[in-house]
Amino acid sequence: KKKVTRRTLLKMKRNQEPIAMITAYDYPSACLAEDAGADILLVGDSLGMVVLGYDSTIPVTLEDMLHHTKAVARGAGNAMVITDLPFMTAHLPTGEVLRKAARLMQEGLAYGVKVEGGAEIEEKVKALTAAGVPVMGHLGLTPQSVNQLGGYLIQGKDLPNAQRLLDDAKRIEEAGAFSLVLECVPEELAELVTKHLEIPVIGIGAGRYCDGQVLVYHDILALAGDLHPSFVKVYREAGKLMASGIQEYVQDVKNRHFPEEKHVSHLKEGLLEQLHG
Ligand code: KIV
Ligand code: NA
Repeated sequence: KKKVTRRTLLKMKRNQEPIAMITAYDYPSACLAEDAGADILLVGDSLGMVVLGYDSTIPVTLEDMLHHTKAVARGAGNAMVITDLPFMTAHLPTGEVLRKAARLMQEGLAYGVKVEGGAEIEEKVKALTAAGVPVMGHLGLTPQSVNQLGGYLIQGKDLPNAQRLLDDAKRIEEAGAFSLVLECVPEELAELVTKHLEIPVIGIGAGRYCDGQVLVYHDILALAGDLHPSFVKVYREAGKLMASGIQEYVQDVKNRHFPEEKHVSHLKEGLLEQLHG
């Protein structure tokens, strides 16, 4: 497999070859996703919720994103590493947006950045792409706006909102984005956007007809509890497996069942007798 670039993804869209994207937050998750053949590893700011324990993505900082992006980049081989611009970043003055994106690429070794928003961030997408930063857009449910949206709700359900989403998607493509994430929108709307854009559209809770799919690592492995949105498919109950292993270890220590003879080392014969207590 060759290094995945924006050209690879465009070709995949033209050939109707599905794009597989998954979030990764550290070296081991990146290695697993890379070895599974994922095309894109997303260092999502969802790390705020699934790794850092916040109850939204809003508190996640650029330093948080850098720390995790560096680790993911070390585990990625041919997969493209994309990292999220944190809350509010795209709304700062252009120079600051560029500087922050530069840090994610120069220090984090990300291929490019993902930015939530439509028309309101169009100029920033233009500035980033002009400066050599590949931009992945993100429309529909944009979790950084959860407080403004009033919850994690399906977007684009009525005519004005569906029309605005379609218009935003075209503007983000026009501004230079190389791909677009669509989150939590009705399948028909996601299909329409996918047909109208030349750039690949990657869906999450956006139905079957996008150019690719993305899910959160902790969701497909059920690492973060039993509650999942209906668009998630749990592939392995890894969280339960991990919990039972840790429980057994703790009980083994408390019952003196661990360590056993095979886990210990011994002094050479006769050495013990020569030691003075
Ligand atoms: O942060 C994230 O995990 C994301 C994906 C769900 C698209 O933005
Ligand atoms: Na995100």
